[in-house]
Amino acid sequence: MRKITRQVAFEGGWDTDRAEKMSDLFNSLAPEWAERSNEAREAPIADGLARGELPLDGRWLELGSGTGSGTRVLRERVDSVVACDLAAEMLANAPADLAPRVQCDASTLPFSTNRFDAVLMVNMLLFPSEVDRVIAPGGSLLWVNSLGSQTPIHLPPADVVAALPGQWMGLTGKAGSGFWLALHKVLG
Ligand SMILES: C[S@@+](CC[C@H](N)C(=O)[O-])C[C@H]1O[C@@H](n2cnc3c(N)ncnc32)[C@H](O)[C@@H]1O
Repeated sequence: MRKITRQVAFEGGWDTDRAEKMSDLFNSLAPEWAERSNEAREAPIADGLARGELPLDGRWLELGSGTGSGTRVLRERVDSVVACDLAAEMLANAPADLAPRVQCDASTLPFSTNRFDAVLMVNMLLFPSEVDRVIAPGGSLLWVNSLGSQTPIHLPPADVVAALPGQWMGLTGKAGSGFWLALHKVLG
């Protein structure tokens, strides 16, 4: 997963075969996925939302929302959230009342350019050009690795910034078992 994470972020390493394998993997993990969630893993999401100078009154998109543990933390603080995941079973095991759930591949998002004020990604692959495309100028990205550098889908803050097109400014912090990175797209 480490290798795939870097290939997707830096080399466009994604195709239909990889998407199918990833979807199969997470569909198979979906029934028990929610049991992995705990306070220590959710702490960096809550802390990032509290201290990351993020647009809590804006339109949010969560990519790779899984069974909704991050969506729940986000929805406690934000009114407008759309949750997306590649794996239908992950979405099926997420609470229906948290946010509209959209099954899609984050490499080709079904949203217009500049549609969102902010994107949340918790332990999710980074598709730099699509993330940049859907975030409006001046908008934000909250990147969380809930087990820090031990997270299987992990990129350190400097690599997230390096992978994204354009200019981003941000701050980072640690909480619970992980870290967060809040980036703000510099108006160009
Ligand atoms: C490690 S899990 C994290 C799930 C959730 N964010 C959490 O922390 O519990 C990664 C998630 O990303 C989803 N995912 C992987 N590749 C994706 C893609 N190309 N587009 C959308 N979701 C994807 C998987 O289906 C899975 O639900």
